Amino acid sequence: PLVTDLDISQITSLRAVALAARSCLICPMARHATQTVFGEGEPTARMMFVGEQPGDREDQAGRPFVGPAGQLFDRALAEADIGRADVYVTNTVKHFKFIRRGTRRIHEKAGHEEVTACAPWLAAERHLIRPRVLVMLGATAASALLGRSVTIGHTRSRPIPMEDGSTGVVTVHPSYLLRLPGEDARAREYARFVDDLRLAASHLP
Ligand code: URA
Repeated sequence: PLVTDLDISQITSLRAVALAARSCLICPMARHATQTVFGEGEPTARMMFVGEQPGDREDQAGRPFVGPAGQLFDRALAEADIGRADVYVTNTVKHFKFIRRGTRRIHEKAGHEEVTACAPWLAAERHLIRPRVLVMLGATAASALLGRSVTIGHTRSRPIPMEDGSTGVVTVHPSYLLRLPGEDARAREYARFVDDLRLAASHLP
């Protein structure tokens, strides 16, 4: 069956979905990327974090958030006292989208087409994990999960009631923090990011 035909209420195992996602060829990115990068974490996690798409390192490792942005994210989680066992991390789009420049592969923003093609995978992850708190890292995740075009500045740092009864929190993407020029700005924005993670954790039952 086409992935878009999947009835997510029939899906009962995270491993089965991850396996099916591995052979997904719905969008062209799937043919260029090394592999599908599915979400990772405890099935009983109460918090789900959703990024944009795997980066170069994630594409090679086949695991989400293992590159520089992932390391910064791990540090922020620890600072916010959020335990790994309570966390499931995934991406809006499960393949790395890039353009080649010589030997380098440069990240390209995932567009509406890829987000739509990948939406059933993310829906299946939400259905199976049933997180109490859903943290959207950056505008791509926020727009995909809130179903409208989102600006981070207007939406971040406040609880958003989600249709499944969970609490949503929008914050910046950790890659944004890495790109900020100037140490002061980076430190300030990093502290705000940790505050957003604390706010998210405060909505756990
Ligand atoms: N950025 C993301 O959005 N996801 C990853 O897995 C890595 C970097």
